[in-house]
Amino acid sequence: MGLRFLKIKKKINNFNKHIFVDGDKSLSIRWALIASQAIGQSTATNLLKSEDVLNTLNCLKKLGIKIKLTKKNCIIKGRGINGFIFKKNLVLNAGNSGTLGRLILPLLIKSPYKIKIIGDKSLSKRDFSRVIDPLKRIGVNFYPRNKKNLPIYIKGSNFLRPISYFERRGSAQCKSCVMLAVLNTPGEILITAKKSRDHTERMFQNLGIPMKIKKGKKLDFIKISKPEIINNINFKIPGDISSCAFFIVLTLLSKNSKLVIKNININPSRIGLIKILNKMDAKIKLINIKNYKSEECADIVVKSSKSLKGINCPIDLNSSAIDEFLIIFLAASKAKGISYFKNLSELNEKESPRLKIASKRLKMTLIKIRSRKHTIKK
Ligand code: S3P
Repeated sequence: MGLRFLKIKKKINNFNKHIFVDGDKSLSIRWALIASQAIGQSTATNLLKSEDVLNTLNCLKKLGIKIKLTKKNCIIKGRGINGFIFKKNLVLNAGNSGTLGRLILPLLIKSPYKIKIIGDKSLSKRDFSRVIDPLKRIGVNFYPRNKKNLPIYIKGSNFLRPISYFERRGSAQCKSCVMLAVLNTPGEILITAKKSRDHTERMFQNLGIPMKIKKGKKLDFIKISKPEIINNINFKIPGDISSCAFFIVLTLLSKNSKLVIKNININPSRIGLIKILNKMDAKIKLINIKNYKSEECADIVVKSSKSLKGINCPIDLNSSAIDEFLIIFLAASKAKGISYFKNLSELNEKESPRLKIASKRLKMTLIKIRSRKHTIKK
């Protein structure tokens, strides 16, 4: 589809509002997958009802998990660790979701039959060797043997072994895939991981899964071993910072406006957006901070900004803002001065090549932009 301009005739007046956004996507998918492995009934409220999460529920149903989704909540009747009902000729559709496609694999590593994993056109182009390779080392079989993307067949094994794994991309999906494999693997899995969102660690901690974490400046060291059982997990899923990103920047760029976004997950590994915008001189505040099931939540308060300034964005904030860069680039394009963003090649590994698209779109708005392989300068 070609690029099109949309002309907005009516501008929004200044506003002073409180809003809620839908539940966090990463937490919604993780909750559903882990609840399927728990004993008994788990309930989530404010589960995100997006296509990615609905595909997660559909895959679990195909694996014999009973799920009731109502307007108010979602109930999953877990069948315990490796309690899936594996049938011949199963096809699981991950749709557009890299998180689902990559995080469901470790729950299938004892399947006696081949399971076909498919995805939409965009997901089928994305790299799966990043999770296939460590799972193969654990003893899992994939067919065709050297294929790096979907569709692919996975077949489990009864001879799984623990590994020591180095996650060097800063990808939470890769780290979480190996972490979840511990549910079906004997012994102790060791992970050295470049910093990335740590929701799986926090959920495991909350569930009492045997795990030790040493946090270094750039790397985390995680040791986990197989739990006997997983207890049911009831979760009131906090709002998604990625959904807030658009409202936050809208408020910053509007005149005389204020917005309070209630009960958002502000896990430190997710709030790069706020740190980056505040470096640009936005004055975004977090209030009513509280701990909830090993996660942190708060209300976000944002007011119109008189002027934002360009920044040299520290690369150590990249992973904590990985899904918000397009809107950050937009803020940078409205800021005074030049902004630099570096080492962002992972953005081109997403559902769409985000770095390429950003540079194309911003050029159309006559913003001066220079991008090299991993870097963008506006
Ligand atoms: C996610 C991790 C990130 C992010 C994605 C969700 C997760 O992907 O972009 O939207 O829930 O673990 P990578 O792990 O590929 O960086």
